[in-house]
Amino acid sequence: MNIAVFASGRGSNLMAILNAIKEGKLNAKVSVVISNNSNAGALTIAKENGIDALHISRKQFSSDEDYVKKILSELRARNVELIVLAGYMKKIPPEIIREYPNKILNIHPALLPAFGGLGMYGMNVHKAVIDYGVKITGVTVHIVDEEYDHGPIVMQKAIEVKDDDTPETLAERVLKIEHEIYPEAIKLFVEGKVIVSGRKVMIKNED
Ligand code: GAR
Repeated sequence: MNIAVFASGRGSNLMAILNAIKEGKLNAKVSVVISNNSNAGALTIAKENGIDALHISRKQFSSDEDYVKKILSELRARNVELIVLAGYMKKIPPEIIREYPNKILNIHPALLPAFGGLGMYGMNVHKAVIDYGVKITGVTVHIVDEEYDHGPIVMQKAIEVKDDDTPETLAERVLKIEHEIYPEAIKLFVEGKVIVSGRKVMIKNED
């Protein structure tokens, strides 16, 4: 299956996906990496791995329509069947969501629906978790719909927030979990094991 990864930043989740593919744990190909940020580490990782690395930003286009057309044409040209957001900080236009129904995934560094939504990304999330004083946090993989951090939940894993955690120490432990569960969640989609019914995501049994 051809996958497109959309990423805005350093790209450690992209790296975890590529490692899972190399190790034979995930039978898929990252055909293209798209970033709104020309300096994204994710674009460098893509190039180093011989993957097409595209900088596509809304600012390069005079209309939303042209912007969406460009992204869709790059995806279609590579027969992309699944879009994986890995630290992508822009909203996915509705036309793309309609073209890829239940086929766009996102990873969020908290247990949704807590600590999600506009402005809740990266370190902001871990700061908010610590400021609120919750005792557990974690990682959520969900299907992307038209609202930020809102679509049906595919997988979650919780970890404890320790009394002496700082946003940085928490981010480090959460990121480790992200790198473990994102390839696992993607695998379920690649293997066609996911059934979506409204907000409910069910995983088909092995037999
Ligand atoms: C990850 O922690 C990811 O969960 C988060 O951005 C980071 C990207 O790191 N995404 C969000 O906050 C989305 N709301 P990476 O570039 O090293 O994969």
